[in-house]
Formats: sequence, C-alpha cells, structure tokens
Amino acid sequence: MASTIEPIEVRKGLEGVIAGDTAICHVDGERCQLIYRGYNIDDLIGKVSYEEVSYLLLYASLPKRSQLSDWTDQLVMHRAIEPEVLSVLKSLPVHSDPMALLRTLISVMALYDPEEESNTVESNRRKAARTIAKTATLVAAISRLAQGHEPISPRADNSHAANFLLMLHGEPPSQEQARALDTYFVLLAEHGFNASTFTARTVSGTQSDFYSSIVAAIGSLKGPLHGAAGRKAMETLIEIGSPDQVESFVQKTLADHKRFMGFGHRVYKGDDPRGKHLKALAKGLGIETEQGRWFTIAERMQEAVFKAKGLHINVDFYSAPLLQALGIPTELFTAMFACARMAGWSAHILEQTLDNRLIRPLARYVGPRELRVVPIDQR
Ligand code: SDX
Repeated sequence: MASTIEPIEVRKGLEGVIAGDTAICHVDGERCQLIYRGYNIDDLIGKVSYEEVSYLLLYASLPKRSQLSDWTDQLVMHRAIEPEVLSVLKSLPVHSDPMALLRTLISVMALYDPEEESNTVESNRRKAARTIAKTATLVAAISRLAQGHEPISPRADNSHAANFLLMLHGEPPSQEQARALDTYFVLLAEHGFNASTFTARTVSGTQSDFYSSIVAAIGSLKGPLHGAAGRKAMETLIEIGSPDQVESFVQKTLADHKRFMGFGHRVYKGDDPRGKHLKALAKGLGIETEQGRWFTIAERMQEAVFKAKGLHINVDFYSAPLLQALGIPTELFTAMFACARMAGWSAHILEQTLDNRLIRPLARYVGPRELRVVPIDQR
C-alpha cells in the first residue's frame, strides 16, 4: 500500500528517527549504556568471550556449556579459507585497502557456498558462523601478504582472538594479549542501527542474500565517519608524536574546523560506555609492550578535546592505542572492527529476515518542476 502521508519534516541523516524495533541491542544515548540482549556490556566484560557473545547475539540467550561447545566447533570448522578463495586473494593488488580486499573476498567466498541464495534461518546462522570465522582468517592473510609473507593457516585448539593473533604474527599471543583482543571483539560486536548495520538491514529488507548484506555493510563501515575513525585516530596520535604537542594540535584542528577522529557520537550524549574498557586495556597493554607513549598522548588528547569543545570519546579512540599495542598494523584497524561486527551484522540480518518490511523511506523533492523538453540544438 503506497504511503499517502506527506513528509512534514526532513530529518537529515535520519537523526533521531526510530526506524524499527530490535531485540538485539539497546544503545542508551542519555544514560550512555550499551545493552546486548538484556545484558549491560559492563556486566558482560570479563565474564564472557566473543564466542559466547556472538552466540548471544545470534540465538538471543547466553549459551549453555554444550551449546557453546557446538558453536565453537562450528566456528573452528569454518576457520580455513577455501583454496580457490586464497588464490583469488593472491591475485589481487595486495597493498589495496584491507577493507576493499575484504569486501571483495566476502563476495568471492559467497560463490563457494551452495546455499548462497537461501534465506532460511538455519542457512543464515550457518553463514554467520562461516563469515565470523573466515573474516578473521582473511584479515590476517591480507596483512601477511601485504608484508610479503605467506598466510598462516588457522589452528583448531585456541580461541577466536588467540587464533587471529597467531595467524597475524606467526606466534601464539600471551594470555593478556588474547584476552585484550577478545574483549575488543566483544565491545565492538554490536551497536544497534549504526550506519553499517542499517545498511545490512536495508539490503536484507529486499530479500537479497546474507552475503550481499554483509558486503554492503563492509562498504559502509569503511568510511572515516564510521569504522575508519580508529585508523584515523591512530594516524592522529602518530602525527602528534608526543604529549607536549597535544595542545597545539587541538588548537590547530579547531582553527582549521577539522574533525577529531575518535570523538563525538550521533547517539551518546556523554562518553561511549565502551571507551572506559578500551582505555583500561590500552593502558595495561601499553605498559606491557612498552608502547605506553601512545596511551599517554591519547589520554592527554581526551582531556584537551573535552576541555576545548566538550566532545566525548567514542569507541574508536582508545581502540587505536589498544590495537597498536597488539602489534596490529594501522591500515588493518577498520578490518578489525569488521571482524568484531560480523556477529552484530549477522544477528540483524536474521532479525530483519524474520520480521521483514521493505525499507523504503520517502524524500522531500526540492528540485525544479514543470520544465519542458526542447530539442537538443536549442538547449
Ligand atoms: C562509530 O552509530 C554508531 O553506533 C557508530 C559506532 C558503532 O559502534 O557502530 O559507534 C562506531 O562510527 C563511532 C563514530 C566514529 N567516527 C568518528 O570518530 C569521526 C569523528 N566524529 C564525527 O564526525 C561525528 O561525531 C559523528 C559522525 C560520529 C557524529 O556526528 P553527528 O551526530 O552527525 O554530529 P554533527 O556532525 O552534526 O556534529 C554536531 C556538532 C558540529 O558542530 P557545528 O558544526 O554544528 O558547530 O559537533 C561537532 C560538529 O562540528 N562535532 C565535531 C566532532 N563531532 C561532532 N567537531 C570536531 N570533531 C568531532 N569529532
């Protein structure tokens, strides 16, 4: 039934518009709280792994031990990349943006899924496990090839986070490092109707396939106003170079009317609730890896930007020194965000598919009207 309601107000960027219901996540902008399926992120941190949280997001309850074991077995089974996909990866320009390579490779791996076009709950949950597992392997392989090394095959006897660090660095991480990355994955797993998730839902809303929704979401997350802010924040810390240069950098950014990467949020009216956990991890790892200078600069910047413009940090700000302390190349930061968010995207694709209505908003037309066509030689 076509809408007969005339749009009375345009909300640019859909700011403040409630575009649908979800039972997956609540982003409470006023209280600055983040809730996954009824659990406050502050209560989940330190108690559950990314494997448990990805199950929670997809199945709507924390897993029993047997369910976690089955789910973990599924993720492990899907870790390896098909040889055909790996050979495509090796044929691509290896120094391309890792998000562009990931966008391409998810499309390629979709072609090797016999159920690519199926939209049943079972097939989409299997695709979720396959995509969550393989994205980590693909991202590590992308980085290894960019550094001139051969990709390292996944193992089956470690956690998702530990396995990623092993495939990236070629040696097993410390417990502290694996726990830090696992916590990063938990914190960035899901965030309501953010731009990339809403993109995935819009594609799912047309009854298109799971992989098309994921590829579209990757394209959205790639932008510097969204997932690429962490990489930009790290580049900022490197540009500043030392804590005593923070104030002059902040003043110059303000004078140039530029944005502070890792600051501000469309929904949170205060500090992003994920920020304090990422800050603590970045501080601890910074000391352990003697990379504490980046944390010191970041902390000084957080104070200076808040003082100068009242801006609060978002999830990307302390993700930067944390990922840097884990030895993850800066150009890989957005792809790390994609690794984590695969769980949230998958859950929203399932939810949209289960209770779908085509997403098609109205636009207020502001262009010319009643023009008459004239022959080309008279234009
Ligand atoms: C993520 O939506 C999600 O949930 C996303 C996310 C998730 O988990 O999925 O949380 C992840 O994307 C976090 C955001 C990462 N992006 C950045 O860090 C890029 C820098 N931040 C901004 O560009 C901005 O804060 C946004 C895009 C995040 C939000 O912007 P809004 O809501 O559109 O706000 P706005 O651009 O209208 O800014 C309002 C005012 C403006 O001042 P005036 O021009 O009106 O005087 O605040 C200023 C802006 O200039 N402002 C900033 C700023 N953010 C807002 N000024 C300088 N630096 C900033 N970062």
